[in-house]
Order: sequence, then C-alpha cells, then structure tokens
Amino acid sequence: MALGIHSGHGGARGGPAMVGPDGAFDGPVVERAAGREWTLPAGAFWQVHPAAADTLAGAVLDLLDPRPGESAWDLYGGAGLFAAALATRLGPDAPITLVESAPPAVSAARANLTDLAGLSVVPATVEAALRRRRVRGPVDLVVLDPPRTGAGAAVSRAVMAAGPRAVAYVACDPAAFARDVRTFRDGGWRLAALRAFDMFPMTHHVECVGLLSP
Ligand SMILES: C[S@@+](CC[C@H](N)C(=O)[O-])C[C@H]1O[C@@H](n2cnc3c(N)ncnc32)[C@H](O)[C@@H]1O
Repeated sequence: MALGIHSGHGGARGGPAMVGPDGAFDGPVVERAAGREWTLPAGAFWQVHPAAADTLAGAVLDLLDPRPGESAWDLYGGAGLFAAALATRLGPDAPITLVESAPPAVSAARANLTDLAGLSVVPATVEAALRRRRVRGPVDLVVLDPPRTGAGAAVSRAVMAAGPRAVAYVACDPAAFARDVRTFRDGGWRLAALRAFDMFPMTHHVECVGLLSP
C-alpha cells in the first residue's frame, strides 16, 4: 500500500512529506512508534494516522500479553511495527519471525531493527513462507495484519496448526476479518476479544484488532 500524505512528525525535513501516486517523493520519512525512531522509504507501508501505529501496537500487546521466553510471528509485518512492539516485552533476543513480501518494507525492517538479535526477516508472501515451511511452528504468539483481502483460509489454518496460544488479528476490512474468524471457529478457536478503532474519520473504514484463542 503506498503512503498518501504522510504526517512525518519529526520527519527528515521536520514537516509533512508529499507522496505521489507513483510513490515518488523527496526523501525518507522519519516516524516514532513502539519506543523507537523509524526511517522509512516511500514504498514501505506505514499507518497513515499519526496516532495509529502506537495505538494498534498497544492494543496488540494488551491482547497478546507477551510473556518472557515466548516466541512470535509478525505476519504481513511491513517495516516491523509489531515485531518491535513484541520485542519491548519479549526482549531483543526473543525469537521473532517477520514475513513480508514488499521489498521496500523488507529493507526497512532489516535497516530499522538491527538491534533485535532474535529477529528473522523472511522476504516472501505469507502463503509461500508457510507452504514451503520457511516459517515453521511451534510458535507462542502470532500477529496477523493482512491487506484488505484478509489472511484467507489456508493461512488461517496454517497459523492454527503452528499451535500458538494467542493470535492478534489486525484487520482493515471487517468483512474479510469475519470470514477468517469463521475459519478459526471451524478450527475450534474463538474470538476472545475485539477492539474497533475509528482510524479513518469521516469514512466508513473501521480498523479492528481481534484476539483469537484456541
Ligand atoms: C496492512 S499492512 C501492515 C504492515 C505492518 N504490520 C504495519 O502495521 O505497519 C500489510 C502488509 O502486508 C504486506 N503484504 C501484502 N500481501 C502480502 C502477502 N501475501 N504476504 C506477505 N506480505 C504481504 C504489504 O506489503 C504490507 O506491508
């Protein structure tokens, strides 16, 4: 997803950065979230609303309640917002695997999270990474933050098969989310908690964060 008008608070030039439809703009954007500073290229996903990144990261941590010693997957990880948030609780050496298919986001994750010794970045689609077992369970915690199409049945089943104790599903399309919740329910899981955020005021979009439990 390309950035639109980027808030870029604390940005490289101290003001908003304009991003055209072709993704061209005049320099990297600097953001603060999850207790760190991020330098992001135009092609990497970032939440548009300035408060969204920390709000969603806080909701994910609240719902997953990460415990020392646990491992985690950040699927559809972008530049690594949720991996970084998880590491604030699990520690820099915790085994966290981020899967992301867009090369600019993969580069941003690698460049911004060099301090996380336990982090593995897998440059692939989530579907292929799971199918080819480049990402393998068991794992304790999973964050799923797919694009509007949702994770789909194959990914949802593969996540359940990895045996996590909790999955945080960050959903920008409630209909796709509901479809995937049905797959989890059919697998014996339940939607244990649900939060909704009006992150795009004056539009019909509602961002949801759901906690799925086996
Ligand atoms: C909604 S964004 C979330 C990014 C990140 N979690 C964040 O909050 O900043 C979805 C991300 O998934 C990536 N993506 C889209 N389809 C994918 C797929 N099939 N496999 C892996 N990544 C994918 C996009 O490039 C994008 O970075």
